[in-house]
Amino acid sequence: MAQDTIDAEISGTQGDTPGQSKVEIRQVSKAYGDEWASESVIESLSVEIMPGELTVIVGPSGCGKSTLVNLIAGFEKPDSGEILLDGSKVKGPARDRMVVFQETALIPWQTTYQNIVFGPKLRGDLKGKALRSEAERLLDKVGLGEFKNKYPLQLSGGMQRRAELARALINNPRIMIMDEPFRGLDAMSRGLMQEFFLRLFEENRRTNLFVTSEIDEAIFLADRIIVLSNRPAQVRKVIEVNLPRPRDYKMLSSEEAYAIKRDAMEILHEEAMKSFKSGTKSDFAEAYAKSGQ
Ligand SMILES: Nc1ncnc2c1ncn2[C@@H]1O[C@H](COP(=O)(O)OP(=O)(O)OP(=O)(O)O)[C@@H](O)[C@H]1O
Ligand SMILES: [Mg+2]
Repeated sequence: MAQDTIDAEISGTQGDTPGQSKVEIRQVSKAYGDEWASESVIESLSVEIMPGELTVIVGPSGCGKSTLVNLIAGFEKPDSGEILLDGSKVKGPARDRMVVFQETALIPWQTTYQNIVFGPKLRGDLKGKALRSEAERLLDKVGLGEFKNKYPLQLSGGMQRRAELARALINNPRIMIMDEPFRGLDAMSRGLMQEFFLRLFEENRRTNLFVTSEIDEAIFLADRIIVLSNRPAQVRKVIEVNLPRPRDYKMLSSEEAYAIKRDAMEILHEEAMKSFKSGTKSDFAEAYAKSGQ
């Protein structure tokens, strides 16, 4: 067997082979703080992330979305309950679950190319020609072929996010987890990134979990939307989005999209109001008030 093939098998990187994995979150609870001043963030939350689907989580600000991401990624452990990836219990972080965060995690003193090859190179699981050609393939895929020798600060916000996507994808993860990755981008770049990300997903349907607080973004992207309650986070509703693929922005003005939006906004408004009553500031109540719904 050629060394490149061996390298590819060890790393699990086989071109575009999608990771169509299932995640089961069973009765998961998580609290922070010490015994006498503990704050419950997630309570008995059960939900399934289906293989080959793009599942979007929406929920009020501060409800525990990133905590849930950290639990699935294995950065944190649940206090009770369990998380299964294809039937095996998640015990810690691993490259079968890659996370792209809102904050850039690119290393500023390394070029785009160096950032992308950093992980596999460090581990030594993909080397030489195989690593170079996989990195080049992904750079082209995310439209950064010509920018591979630029440093992160020389890239626009949208380009940085695409570099992060390539950096995660080189690990060929079983599931991609995106925690509000486009928050902070201007409206135009955000729209372009949503479309770009959608095309990437529709190409090979890798299992994806995407967190957002924008309901339009959720409807545009999702196969399934999980609406969370206020903290402690629980599943309020699972909404199937049956808009056809490939998706188009015009579909957001369809009757079906409006119905989903009304449904989700009603729940989120209810949750925002509850947090108002309990004295917690909620960005969602503000956003809702401004949206004129
Ligand atoms: N490591 C930690 N230690 C203590 N408290 C934490 C920790 N991580 C999160 N929390 C608390 O858990 C709650 C939920 O936080 P989390 O970041 O999961 O919410 P979120 O829904 O992602 O919020 P946002 O919409 O702002 O991204 C917050 O009240 C936060 O203060
Ligand atoms: Mg968060």
